[in-house]
Amino acid sequence: MAKNISSHTYHVSVKDRRKANKHNSFLIWITGLSGSGKSTIANGLEYNLHKKGIKTYVLDGDNIRGGINQNLTFSPEDRVENNRRIAEISKLFMDAGCVVIGAFISPYKKSREEIKRIVTPENFIEIYVNTSLEECEKRDVKGLYKKARKGEIKDFTGISAPYEAPENPDIEIKTENESLEEAIGKIVNYIKKKLQYNE
Ligand code: ADX
Repeated sequence: MAKNISSHTYHVSVKDRRKANKHNSFLIWITGLSGSGKSTIANGLEYNLHKKGIKTYVLDGDNIRGGINQNLTFSPEDRVENNRRIAEISKLFMDAGCVVIGAFISPYKKSREEIKRIVTPENFIEIYVNTSLEECEKRDVKGLYKKARKGEIKDFTGISAPYEAPENPDIEIKTENESLEEAIGKIVNYIKKKLQYNE
Protein backbone atom coordinates (compact mmCIF):
# COMPACT_ATOMS: atom_id res chain seq x y z
CA MET A 1 0.00 0.00 0.00
CA ALA A 2 1.18 3.56 -0.73
CA LYS A 3 2.72 5.66 2.04
CA ASN A 4 0.32 7.27 4.53
CA ILE A 5 -2.64 5.41 3.06
CA SER A 6 -4.47 2.94 5.25
CA SER A 7 -7.57 0.96 4.40
CA HIS A 8 -10.93 1.31 6.08
CA THR A 9 -12.90 -1.80 6.98
CA TYR A 10 -16.26 -1.67 5.23
CA HIS A 11 -19.34 -3.55 6.40
CA VAL A 12 -20.09 -4.92 2.94
CA SER A 13 -17.39 -7.24 1.63
CA VAL A 14 -16.81 -8.94 -1.70
CA LYS A 15 -18.13 -12.12 -0.07
CA ASP A 16 -21.40 -10.36 0.77
CA ARG A 17 -21.75 -9.14 -2.79
CA ARG A 18 -21.03 -12.57 -4.23
CA LYS A 19 -23.57 -14.07 -1.89
CA ALA A 20 -26.21 -11.50 -2.84
CA ASN A 21 -25.50 -12.07 -6.55
CA LYS A 22 -25.48 -15.85 -6.07
CA HIS A 23 -22.35 -16.15 -8.16
CA ASN A 24 -18.61 -15.58 -7.89
CA SER A 25 -16.73 -12.74 -9.50
CA PHE A 26 -13.48 -13.03 -11.45
CA LEU A 27 -11.66 -11.85 -14.56
CA ILE A 28 -11.86 -13.50 -17.96
CA TRP A 29 -8.93 -12.14 -19.94
CA ILE A 30 -9.07 -12.41 -23.73
CA THR A 31 -5.77 -11.90 -25.54
CA GLY A 32 -4.97 -12.03 -29.26
CA LEU A 33 -3.99 -9.97 -32.29
CA SER A 34 -5.95 -6.96 -33.46
CA GLY A 35 -8.86 -8.28 -35.53
CA SER A 36 -8.58 -11.79 -34.08
CA GLY A 37 -12.16 -11.70 -32.78
CA LYS A 38 -11.64 -10.78 -29.11
CA SER A 39 -14.44 -8.22 -28.93
CA THR A 40 -16.89 -10.43 -30.83
CA ILE A 41 -16.25 -13.24 -28.34
CA ALA A 42 -16.43 -10.84 -25.36
CA ASN A 43 -19.75 -9.51 -26.66
CA GLY A 44 -21.27 -12.95 -27.25
CA LEU A 45 -20.01 -14.25 -23.92
CA GLU A 46 -21.40 -11.29 -22.00
CA TYR A 47 -24.78 -11.69 -23.71
CA ASN A 48 -24.89 -15.38 -22.79
CA LEU A 49 -24.04 -14.73 -19.12
CA HIS A 50 -26.26 -11.66 -18.83
CA LYS A 51 -29.28 -13.67 -19.99
CA LYS A 52 -28.61 -16.03 -17.08
CA GLY A 53 -28.75 -13.16 -14.60
CA ILE A 54 -25.00 -12.94 -14.07
CA LYS A 55 -23.55 -9.50 -13.41
CA THR A 56 -21.00 -8.80 -16.10
CA TYR A 57 -18.90 -5.98 -17.47
CA VAL A 58 -16.71 -5.80 -20.58
CA LEU A 59 -13.55 -3.75 -20.64
CA ASP A 60 -12.02 -3.12 -24.07
CA GLY A 61 -10.03 -0.58 -26.05
CA ASP A 62 -13.13 1.51 -26.67
CA ASN A 63 -14.02 2.19 -23.05
CA ILE A 64 -10.46 2.20 -21.71
CA ARG A 65 -8.15 3.72 -24.30
CA GLY A 66 -10.74 6.39 -25.12
CA GLY A 67 -10.99 7.46 -21.48
CA ILE A 68 -8.86 6.66 -18.49
CA ASN A 69 -5.90 5.55 -20.64
CA GLN A 70 -6.15 8.17 -23.36
CA ASN A 71 -2.67 9.44 -22.45
CA LEU A 72 -1.07 6.11 -23.39
CA THR A 73 0.50 5.15 -26.73
CA PHE A 74 1.37 1.74 -28.16
CA SER A 75 5.02 1.79 -27.07
CA PRO A 76 6.05 -1.29 -25.07
CA GLU A 77 6.09 0.72 -21.79
CA ASP A 78 2.67 2.23 -22.41
CA ARG A 79 1.11 -1.11 -23.32
CA VAL A 80 2.38 -2.55 -20.03
CA GLU A 81 0.94 0.44 -18.17
CA ASN A 82 -2.33 0.16 -20.15
CA ASN A 83 -2.66 -3.48 -19.11
CA ARG A 84 -1.65 -2.79 -15.49
CA ARG A 85 -4.32 -0.12 -15.07
CA ILE A 86 -6.92 -2.38 -16.67
CA ALA A 87 -6.00 -5.10 -14.17
CA GLU A 88 -6.54 -2.65 -11.28
CA ILE A 89 -9.89 -1.56 -12.75
CA SER A 90 -10.85 -5.21 -13.20
CA LYS A 91 -10.02 -5.81 -9.55
CA LEU A 92 -12.47 -3.10 -8.52
CA PHE A 93 -15.24 -4.47 -10.73
CA MET A 94 -14.51 -7.94 -9.35
CA ASP A 95 -14.72 -6.55 -5.86
CA ALA A 96 -18.08 -5.05 -6.84
CA GLY A 97 -19.24 -8.58 -7.68
CA CYS A 98 -18.95 -8.60 -11.48
CA VAL A 99 -17.64 -11.18 -13.87
CA VAL A 100 -15.23 -8.97 -15.80
CA ILE A 101 -14.40 -9.71 -19.41
CA GLY A 102 -11.27 -7.93 -20.64
CA ALA A 103 -10.50 -7.94 -24.36
CA PHE A 104 -7.04 -6.55 -25.07
CA ILE A 105 -4.15 -7.47 -27.33
CA SER A 106 -1.89 -7.56 -24.24
CA PRO A 107 1.06 -8.79 -26.31
CA TYR A 108 3.57 -9.34 -23.52
CA LYS A 109 3.73 -12.49 -21.43
CA LYS A 110 5.20 -10.57 -18.49
CA SER A 111 2.37 -8.08 -18.62
CA ARG A 112 -0.27 -10.83 -18.57
CA GLU A 113 1.52 -12.38 -15.60
CA GLU A 114 1.31 -9.03 -13.84
CA ILE A 115 -2.45 -8.89 -14.48
CA LYS A 116 -2.78 -12.38 -13.02
CA ARG A 117 -0.82 -11.34 -9.96
CA ILE A 118 -2.93 -8.20 -9.45
CA VAL A 119 -6.29 -10.00 -9.56
CA THR A 120 -4.76 -13.17 -7.99
CA PRO A 121 -4.30 -16.39 -9.99
CA GLU A 122 -7.54 -17.98 -8.73
CA ASN A 123 -9.52 -15.08 -10.18
CA PHE A 124 -7.84 -15.07 -13.57
CA ILE A 125 -8.84 -17.03 -16.64
CA GLU A 126 -6.76 -16.58 -19.75
CA ILE A 127 -8.30 -17.06 -23.16
CA TYR A 128 -6.10 -17.01 -26.22
CA VAL A 129 -7.89 -16.10 -29.41
CA ASN A 130 -5.54 -17.76 -31.83
CA THR A 131 -6.29 -16.29 -35.23
CA SER A 132 -3.34 -16.21 -37.61
CA LEU A 133 -1.81 -12.90 -38.63
CA GLU A 134 -2.63 -13.75 -42.25
CA GLU A 135 -6.32 -14.11 -41.40
CA CYS A 136 -6.41 -10.95 -39.24
CA GLU A 137 -4.76 -9.04 -42.03
CA LYS A 138 -7.17 -10.47 -44.58
CA ARG A 139 -10.13 -9.43 -42.42
CA ASP A 140 -8.60 -6.04 -41.63
CA VAL A 141 -11.92 -4.86 -40.16
CA LYS A 142 -10.57 -1.44 -39.15
CA GLY A 143 -8.17 -1.01 -42.10
CA LEU A 144 -5.26 -0.73 -39.67
CA TYR A 145 -3.10 -3.54 -41.10
CA LYS A 146 -3.07 -1.79 -44.47
CA LYS A 147 -1.94 1.42 -42.79
CA ALA A 148 0.64 -0.44 -40.72
CA ARG A 149 2.09 -2.11 -43.85
CA LYS A 150 2.42 1.32 -45.45
CA GLY A 151 4.29 2.49 -42.34
CA GLU A 152 1.54 4.90 -41.32
CA ILE A 153 1.14 3.28 -37.88
CA LYS A 154 4.23 2.47 -35.89
CA ASP A 155 4.58 -0.29 -33.30
CA PHE A 156 1.72 -2.23 -34.83
CA THR A 157 1.27 -5.66 -33.25
CA GLY A 158 2.18 -8.47 -35.64
CA ILE A 159 3.72 -6.09 -38.18
CA SER A 160 6.22 -3.89 -36.39
CA ALA A 161 5.69 -4.93 -32.77
CA PRO A 162 5.74 -8.41 -31.21
CA TYR A 163 2.93 -10.63 -29.98
CA GLU A 164 3.99 -13.22 -27.43
CA ALA A 165 1.39 -15.98 -27.61
CA PRO A 166 0.36 -17.64 -24.34
CA GLU A 167 1.94 -21.06 -23.87
CA ASN A 168 -0.59 -22.40 -21.41
CA PRO A 169 -3.86 -20.53 -21.78
CA ASP A 170 -6.89 -21.89 -19.93
CA ILE A 171 -8.76 -21.90 -23.21
CA GLU A 172 -7.58 -21.53 -26.79
CA ILE A 173 -9.97 -20.50 -29.51
CA LYS A 174 -9.14 -20.91 -33.17
CA THR A 175 -11.62 -18.70 -34.93
CA GLU A 176 -10.61 -20.09 -38.31
CA ASN A 177 -11.86 -23.54 -37.33
CA GLU A 178 -14.62 -23.00 -34.79
CA SER A 179 -17.83 -21.00 -34.76
CA LEU A 180 -18.63 -18.20 -32.35
CA GLU A 181 -21.27 -20.40 -30.70
CA GLU A 182 -18.73 -23.18 -30.19
CA ALA A 183 -16.22 -20.76 -28.72
CA ILE A 184 -18.74 -19.29 -26.29
CA GLY A 185 -19.98 -22.75 -25.33
CA LYS A 186 -16.42 -23.76 -24.49
CA ILE A 187 -15.90 -20.73 -22.23
CA VAL A 188 -19.29 -21.03 -20.51
CA ASN A 189 -18.61 -24.68 -19.80
CA TYR A 190 -15.17 -23.91 -18.42
CA ILE A 191 -16.38 -21.23 -16.00
CA LYS A 192 -19.52 -23.07 -14.81
CA LYS A 193 -17.91 -24.40 -11.63
CA LYS A 194 -16.01 -21.20 -10.94
CA LEU A 195 -19.24 -19.22 -11.08
CA GLN A 196 -20.86 -21.17 -8.26
CA TYR A 197 -20.83 -19.32 -4.99
CA ASN A 198 -20.29 -21.66 -2.04
CA GLU A 199 -20.13 -20.39 1.49
S1 ADX B 1 -2.59 -3.36 -25.90
O1 ADX B 1 -1.47 -3.92 -26.67
O2 ADX B 1 -2.18 -2.18 -25.12
O3 ADX B 1 -3.23 -4.39 -25.03
P1 ADX B 1 -5.21 -2.58 -26.81
O4 ADX B 1 -5.95 -3.87 -26.82
O5 ADX B 1 -5.42 -1.65 -25.65
O6 ADX B 1 -3.65 -2.91 -27.00
O7 ADX B 1 -5.56 -1.76 -28.13
C1 ADX B 1 -5.54 -2.41 -29.38
C2 ADX B 1 -6.41 -1.72 -30.42
O8 ADX B 1 -5.93 -0.40 -30.69
C3 ADX B 1 -6.34 -2.46 -31.74
O9 ADX B 1 -7.38 -3.41 -31.88
C4 ADX B 1 -6.42 -1.37 -32.77
O10 ADX B 1 -7.77 -1.09 -33.08
C5 ADX B 1 -5.86 -0.15 -32.09
N1 ADX B 1 -4.45 0.20 -32.42
C6 ADX B 1 -4.03 1.46 -32.73
N2 ADX B 1 -2.70 1.48 -32.88
C7 ADX B 1 -2.24 0.22 -32.68
C8 ADX B 1 -0.94 -0.39 -32.69
N3 ADX B 1 0.17 0.31 -32.96
N4 ADX B 1 -0.85 -1.72 -32.43
C9 ADX B 1 -1.96 -2.42 -32.15
N5 ADX B 1 -3.21 -1.92 -32.11
C10 ADX B 1 -3.36 -0.60 -32.37
